[in-house]
Amino acid sequence: MDKRFIKALEKARRGRLLQYDDILVLLSAGPQEQVELFTLADRVRRRYMGDEVHIRGIIEFSNYCVRQCCYCGLRAANTGVKRYRLSEEVIVHTAQKAYRLGYRTVVLQSGEDPYYSIERLARIIRRIKMETGLAVTMSVGERSFADYQRMREAGADRYLLKQETSDPVLFAKLRPQTILEDRVRCLKWLKELGFQIGSGNMVGLPGQTMETLVRDLVLMRELDVDMAGIGPFIPHPKTPLAGNPGGTLVMTLKVLAVARLIMPDVNFPATTALETIHSGGRKLALQCGANVIMPNITPVACRAHYSIYPNKAGTKEEPEECLCSINKLVGELGRKVSTGLGDRIKI
Ligand code: 5AD
Ligand code: SF4
Repeated sequence: MDKRFIKALEKARRGRLLQYDDILVLLSAGPQEQVELFTLADRVRRRYMGDEVHIRGIIEFSNYCVRQCCYCGLRAANTGVKRYRLSEEVIVHTAQKAYRLGYRTVVLQSGEDPYYSIERLARIIRRIKMETGLAVTMSVGERSFADYQRMREAGADRYLLKQETSDPVLFAKLRPQTILEDRVRCLKWLKELGFQIGSGNMVGLPGQTMETLVRDLVLMRELDVDMAGIGPFIPHPKTPLAGNPGGTLVMTLKVLAVARLIMPDVNFPATTALETIHSGGRKLALQCGANVIMPNITPVACRAHYSIYPNKAGTKEEPEECLCSINKLVGELGRKVSTGLGDRIKI
């Protein structure tokens, strides 16, 4: 094994602050070294987060989007998508059903869709909070400070806004008419407003380097994120990035494992994207630092249309079947499904 790798891993084992170069060395782990990296990440996950796996039910309530992200199948220019919007009634009803089934968090996610005015969103949040004891996570993109404030006042607990990439040039290229600086500002506002914030990135984006990945992780740590979704980039045929290679299983697991080492008390989901590129990928992620699963609980008739990338895993199962297979998966790992809200407990 590489001497520098052994040194960096030892530093992590002792709980010392990993610097840029340490992170780079760890991400460069070869096949033999990976085993050590994954083992340590699993141990750190267990020490800080325990054996509980938190379940967050995700409701993809609108696939309309005004943005043109070059990687995403929901970009406005893709006319091949059958667009849908769920009514307030259906959204609240879906959340209630999730609550009855034992879910304790719902994530309300959509494209950037102005149809959902802040009044509408606030009403939906208020109803879910009043009628269930669910933690509510919002994921509706970049909005004004005032909008975020209204969501918080309505009772939203958490907000997901992935940085996607920490390279400002790549960011501007892949997300036309948006800049990294604005997105980071949004994350800081959200934190200031008392949301638990979630960020994350895509691994294997065209134009991304190892250095970008190191900076992605350092940025998440600097922002003091409470959760981060780390998943592979999957090329979508109806986007400008069609035909590019996607992110790999191993690289994604390495980024996740290092994320666990440098942010030991943060919630990391085993992403659907990883399960999509590799059957069993979610289980592997749970063994490399992840402690959260986010089953899709969108009404099944709509699910296939939320096609951010092709062949998305979990587009057919009903929420109750999902829970059943997750219980089995988690049980096989000798772990248990959490019955709590799964807030981040900062250590
Ligand atoms: N591959 C992987 N993840 C993607 N996302 C969007 N498009 C893709 C893709 N082609 C992710 C982004 C976004 C989340 C909703 O989906 O990270 O934040
Ligand atoms: Fe819209 Fe989000 Fe897709 Fe970008 S990544 S096109 S903002 S749904």
